[in-house]
Amino acid sequence: MAEHDNLTVIDHPLVRHKLGILRGTGTSSKLFRELVDEIMSLMAYEVTRGLEEETVEIVTPLERMTGRRLKGKKPVIVPVLRAGLGMVDGMLRVMPGARIGHIGMARDEVSLEPAEYYFKVPSQLGERQVIVVDPMLATGGSASAAITGLKERGATRVTFACLVAAPEGVRALGEVHPDVHVFAAGLDRQLSDIGYILPGLGDAGDRLYGTRD
Ligand code: PRP
Ligand code: URA
Repeated sequence: MAEHDNLTVIDHPLVRHKLGILRGTGTSSKLFRELVDEIMSLMAYEVTRGLEEETVEIVTPLERMTGRRLKGKKPVIVPVLRAGLGMVDGMLRVMPGARIGHIGMARDEVSLEPAEYYFKVPSQLGERQVIVVDPMLATGGSASAAITGLKERGATRVTFACLVAAPEGVRALGEVHPDVHVFAAGLDRQLSDIGYILPGLGDAGDRLYGTRD
């Protein structure tokens, strides 16, 4: 696979502007949450562009016509806990009828291996389009494990949306799940030797929820 065939970096001035503020150390948790929500709202249009459609008969007050609608059962948004929760409302703004699944995944700070602690998703995943959201794609371990879990439960059409991606994570995810397209607000330089994205924005969960001073 060519370098990052599986990645789309959102090309929009407002996304770049808001991502810059998000990264800064002076940004409070309140503003951080608002910006994550606003960026996801802006990204949602692009992230949903590849959703599959089917034809449908529509009866207007004047005549019958053939229109289009989303194929299959209601799509599912799946935040990877905890930080992915901050991206759900932005997605729901464009797909208010979507179902929501939750996957709890915590990355061990030393080994960087993800450990799953919660998994609850809607039934009939095979008939749904699934959008997994998590602000950070670092080593790619958490995203990859979350998507493997979804596929084990029947998901076949999966998209991944994040705010900041490391090249290492994009590559690793593409190797394990070449069918999954990644959307990011920004592609950063590299991973640090303790697995943080550089320049990044720090620990997304802590910054969203104010759990580290
Ligand atoms: C963060 C982030 C991703 C993961 C990315 O979560 O939200 O889930 O790290 O790292 P990876 O690509 O190397 O797996 P974390 O495990 O810190 O949990 P939290 O959301 O509860 O803070
Ligand atoms: N998880 C985060 O929250 N930030 C990083 O930079 C890497 C993983």
